[in-house]
Amino acid sequence: MTKPRLYSGMQPSAESLQIGNYIGALLNWKSLQQTHDAFFSIVDLHAITVAQEPAKLRENTRGTAAQYIAAGIDPSASTLYVQSHVAAHAQLAWVLNTITGFGEASRMTQFKDKTARHGADATTVGLFAYPTLMAADILLYQTSVVPVGEDQRQHVELTRDLALRFNSRFGDTFTIPEVAIVKETAKIYDLQNPTSKMSKSAESHAGVIWLLDEPGITRKKIMRAVTDADGGVVFDRENKPGVANLLTIYSVLASRTIESLETEYAGRGYGDLKKGLVEVVLGTFDPIRERVAELLGDPAELDRVLASNAAKASDVANETLATVYDRVGFLPRR
Ligand code: TYM
Repeated sequence: MTKPRLYSGMQPSAESLQIGNYIGALLNWKSLQQTHDAFFSIVDLHAITVAQEPAKLRENTRGTAAQYIAAGIDPSASTLYVQSHVAAHAQLAWVLNTITGFGEASRMTQFKDKTARHGADATTVGLFAYPTLMAADILLYQTSVVPVGEDQRQHVELTRDLALRFNSRFGDTFTIPEVAIVKETAKIYDLQNPTSKMSKSAESHAGVIWLLDEPGITRKKIMRAVTDADGGVVFDRENKPGVANLLTIYSVLASRTIESLETEYAGRGYGDLKKGLVEVVLGTFDPIRERVAELLGDPAELDRVLASNAAKASDVANETLATVYDRVGFLPRR
């Protein structure tokens, strides 16, 4: 039996992934790659919707690939590649732009948030079209499952709408994808601002745990995480968002239930909880950091793996693109 197709990606917009990317996405990818025909991309075309320094972008793209592999993505079992290596992404995105309503794209909350943050003058057409490029990523591979964090749900819903619209206008072409979000870990919060999502693009990095941070920095950030004055180690998302966030991270990384953590730390206070969490986070990230350094020590080998996977991805993507070009009525080049 053929395995269901899975697609997901991350932006190489920082040197390091943050713990929300790891828990909200990478950990799921790692387990789903066993049962699915998985495609994982490093979405550099998406990254340039916000200004990037060219040399840094190249470095961050390799670095993101190394972090995927170090965190457990197997590039010989899954197709791990760089988005700009497969031209079909930009080509399909253009076609999808022509069936996307202006109002529909204007309603994307990530676009609205980013515009509010950067100001209308810094907002580009590329940022506006971010979701249709993401739809192209997913639809090119006839994807059934898209594992992401909560912040990407709306983009996957738009993707479904566009696929249904294209299919009804031009005939069955695209598989309709389903979003896969793990409820408990769908949103990891900033340690200094535990009602806001932890993000690579946060203005302050004081509450962001980076995979590649030095252990001493990670320790400090966790020990300084915002909690509350109550003192009880209890999971209460509404009233104790800081503690709930720490318990979520702890529970996932240590593979323990929230209840067992509440019991262990009952009456011991937040300092002990944080110390325990430091051990668990470093225990997870130390080996990943070491492996990333090894992988980046041989960039030629990493580039070779990315090139051969991009060739695999191109074959699948070009087949879908050829069907799309035919369906919309483009004259074939003979
Ligand atoms: P990006 O790079 O912003 O985020 C990568 C993945 O990490 C998840 N994530 C989080 N999950 C839980 N808590 C958090 N604080 C947190 N922060 C980030 C995101 O939900 C995402 O799954 N548009 C996508 C990249 C993309 C993509 C695609 C994804 C491009 N094409 C096709 C799936 C399919 C993004 O913003 O990634």
